[in-house]
This record gives sequence, C-alpha cells and structure tokens, in this order.
Amino acid sequence: MRKLTYFIACSIDGFIGDPSGDAQMMVEMVDEEFFDFLRTEYPETLPTHGRRATGTDHLANQKFDTIIQGRASYDIALEIGVTSPYAHMREYVASRSLKESPDPHVEIVSDGLVGKVRELKAEDGELGIYLCGGSRLAGELVDEIDELVVKTYPIVLGSGMPMFGSGFAIGEFTLGEVRTFKNGAIVRTYSRKR
Ligand SMILES: NC(=O)c1ccc[n+]([C@@H]2O[C@H](COP(=O)([O-])OP(=O)(O)OC[C@H]3O[C@@H](n4cnc5c(N)ncnc54)[C@H](OP(=O)(O)O)[C@@H]3O)[C@@H](O)[C@H]2O)c1
Repeated sequence: MRKLTYFIACSIDGFIGDPSGDAQMMVEMVDEEFFDFLRTEYPETLPTHGRRATGTDHLANQKFDTIIQGRASYDIALEIGVTSPYAHMREYVASRSLKESPDPHVEIVSDGLVGKVRELKAEDGELGIYLCGGSRLAGELVDEIDELVVKTYPIVLGSGMPMFGSGFAIGEFTLGEVRTFKNGAIVRTYSRKR
C-alpha cells in the first residue's frame, strides 16, 4: 500500500497562496539552506524546468514516484509552455474540462478520482504519491490523505487560498518529524490517525 502525501507550502495562518492561489511570496523565501533540504530530501517536488535551471535534474526521486495535480495548478505550467512539469514522475492531472491531454506523459483523470487514487495507493512500490494541490483537489481527496508534509513559512496573509477547499470536518493526524530552518520555515510531517 502506497501513501498519498499532501506536500504543501503555507503561511502561518494556513493559506497556500493569495486569494487567487499565487504562492510566489513563499517561493521567494526559499534560501540556500531550505533549497538544500528540498534538493536532498524531496528533489522530485521541484518541477522539471526548475530542476534543469538549478542543475538538479539528475537527482533520484526520494519519496514520490507519482504526482497528482488539479487542473488549475497544472495550468501554471501550461501558461509558460510546459506540458509535463514533473516529467521525472508519473503525472496525473484531475480535470473534467480538459478533453485531451496536452502531453503523452500526463494522464487526465476526469471520472472516478477517488477510485483512481485508491488504485494508485494499492500498487506495490517503495515510493509514494505526491498530492501537489491545489486547494480544490486537496479538498476532494482529503479523506484519502495518509500523510501531510506542511512547509510553514513565517508570514501571515489574513486571507487567501485555504489548504483544503472542503467543508467542515475534523480529520485527526499524529505529529511526526518537525524541522526548523534559519529562514523561519517549519516543516511538520503528520500521519493520519486511522
Ligand atoms: N502553496 C503551495 O504549495 C501550492 C501547491 C499547489 C498549488 N498551489 C496553488 O493552488 C492554486 C490552484 O488551486 P485551486 O484550488 O484553484 O485548483 P486545483 O485544485 O489545482 O484544480 C482544481 C481543478 O481540478 C479539477 N478537479 C478537482 N476535483 C476533481 C474531480 N473530483 N474530478 C475531476 N477533476 C477535478 C477541476 O478541473 P476542471 O475545472 O478542468 O474540471 C478543478 O477545477 C494555484 O494558484 C497554485 O498556485 C499552491
């Protein structure tokens, strides 16, 4: 059984971006130490074009070999002409509006999202599934999430895009590793209480 992990950057007050979802202010807080952590422990979470630009494209996947994104998150790559933003993993994009995949490496999941995720989780394999976001996709998959890796940056946004675009429900998690960084970021790992 493979884990579905929501690996996500957020503000102290739990927003993953500004009200439109833009998370650039968090990207700008990544300093050398934090980048080194990402490069060493989660290199696959860097998009392929970012890996090429930073000379990290050769790094082996450490935690994940599969990614699932919502169509709005995928659009960010499409807007800059990148059709396969995580070419070093198996890529799935949830969308009912995209009738055809813009790239042979990207599979569109239009029906039966939860069933597809359960199927991926049931596969054998040492590496897990990276739930990239955004908010609406995470809201749809909240009950399937086995692990949360929350990268909290030392900023307060007041309002913005929530971590989960879902209704009120209490989901219980157990705190695992906590890492702190000089730039003020904290990375907490939680496992789902089952
Ligand atoms: N801070 C971070 O680490 C982080 C990480 C990732 C993303 N983000 C931000 O999140 C923002 C996007 O989030 P978002 O909530 O607007 O959108 P999203 O979750 O990325 O994508 C939503 C879309 O996914 C598709 N979808 C959702 N549930 C589905 C289902 N059950 N079946 C089939 N398709 C489904 C739909 O696509 P269709 O409309 O095509 O049907 C829906 O419009 C971006 O601005 C990005 O910057 C931040």
